Amino acid sequence: LKKVKLPLGPRSYEIRIGEKILAQALSLLDGKKRAFIVADNRLKEARADLLSALKSLGWEVEEIAVEAGEALKSIESMLPIYGELLKRRADRNSVLFALGGGSVGDAAGFVASTYMRGIAWVGIPTTLLAQVDSSVGGKTAVNYEIQNEIGKNLIGTTYQPSLVICDIHYLKTLSSREMVSGLGETIKYGIIYDPKFFAQLKKSWKNIVRRDSKSLISAIQKSVSWKSKIVAKDEHDRKGIREALNFGHTFGHALEASTRFELYQHGEAVIWGMRFALALSHVKGSLTKKKYRSVDDFLSMLEVPALPKSIEPQEIFDFMKKDKKMESGSVRFVLLSRLGRTFSDRFVSNDELHSAFRLMKGRS
Ligand SMILES: NC(=O)c1ccc[n+]([C@@H]2O[C@H](COP(=O)([O-])OP(=O)(O)OC[C@H]3O[C@@H](n4cnc5c(N)ncnc54)[C@H](O)[C@@H]3O)[C@@H](O)[C@H]2O)c1
Ligand SMILES: [Zn+2]
Repeated sequence: LKKVKLPLGPRSYEIRIGEKILAQALSLLDGKKRAFIVADNRLKEARADLLSALKSLGWEVEEIAVEAGEALKSIESMLPIYGELLKRRADRNSVLFALGGGSVGDAAGFVASTYMRGIAWVGIPTTLLAQVDSSVGGKTAVNYEIQNEIGKNLIGTTYQPSLVICDIHYLKTLSSREMVSGLGETIKYGIIYDPKFFAQLKKSWKNIVRRDSKSLISAIQKSVSWKSKIVAKDEHDRKGIREALNFGHTFGHALEASTRFELYQHGEAVIWGMRFALALSHVKGSLTKKKYRSVDDFLSMLEVPALPKSIEPQEIFDFMKKDKKMESGSVRFVLLSRLGRTFSDRFVSNDELHSAFRLMKGRS
């Protein structure tokens, strides 16, 4: 069992990482209270395990099963969760447990942050993407459809959990596709912060997809350590320190949005987004051809759905611009100057975007 601490003063918490660690990790929670489990309804075994583990520790447990996925992150889909909490008289001492991938964590975290002005919550992420990234940092999110387009994560709170339990046992039932999606966000930490970790992942990525325990635990611990370190410096994402974490996300989000969130898993879109950011870094002259290729060669090995044939690159670029308009800013790209070193650039011309796209496409 590994522990990573996220130091945030009174809101500090631990991320516990290991295999079959649930009972042990739960025993850390003090006081025996009422637990409300908001769980992905597909996870039958994981739900039963959590229920019995909490019960055997003396908790009174209630369950609220939800349909996971992007559609869960809407106010309409969250209302029944509040309804169930109210009907079953959850009070301010109740603890909400979020069992599932990033969609369940984002939604349940938001509910926890607003129910009775905030109740304690525990994250139990069950996808690799959620274990390496979304479960840490306390960003909760709601989507809002606006003019027939999904406005992603436009509503939300920063509300830290009391504990996060990353048990790799859950990952056994994930598809390889979900594993690669999570690997995308994992590799991101290597690229933006940690050349050594990048080299390690280059060697071990197949073992990770195969779910080798040692490789998985090490990769999750590294990613979570980086994320915790950054969040500790900029909890509310106001200082620009968290900006590097957006590497690959400007193009990635636009690719997801322009394909109506139907074609790519989040991490898959981020893999394309990182390949685009790397190409753009080369086009802008900040990354030599050799360095560009050495990073991109690794990403190009990962199996992700191809770029959509029916969509013009300009359409994707227009999505990036729209996205930023919502935040009343200009498009800022996180670019790379070398492995482990990023900077942000808001002076990117349309021609440069097209050149980067051509370069990326030529290598895929
Ligand atoms: N809050 C943050 O900081 C942050 C960061 C990155 C991503 N996100 C969000 O996370 C979401 C994506 O996360 P995700 O990919 O985990 O989404 P998800 O919750 O939709 O899970 C993906 C799929 O895997 C299934 N699943 C979950 N656990 C499983 C298991 N153990 N075995 C088999 N199947 C399982 C789910 O039912 C779902 O079909 C997006 O909404 C994204 O915006 C949030
Ligand atoms: Zn992401």
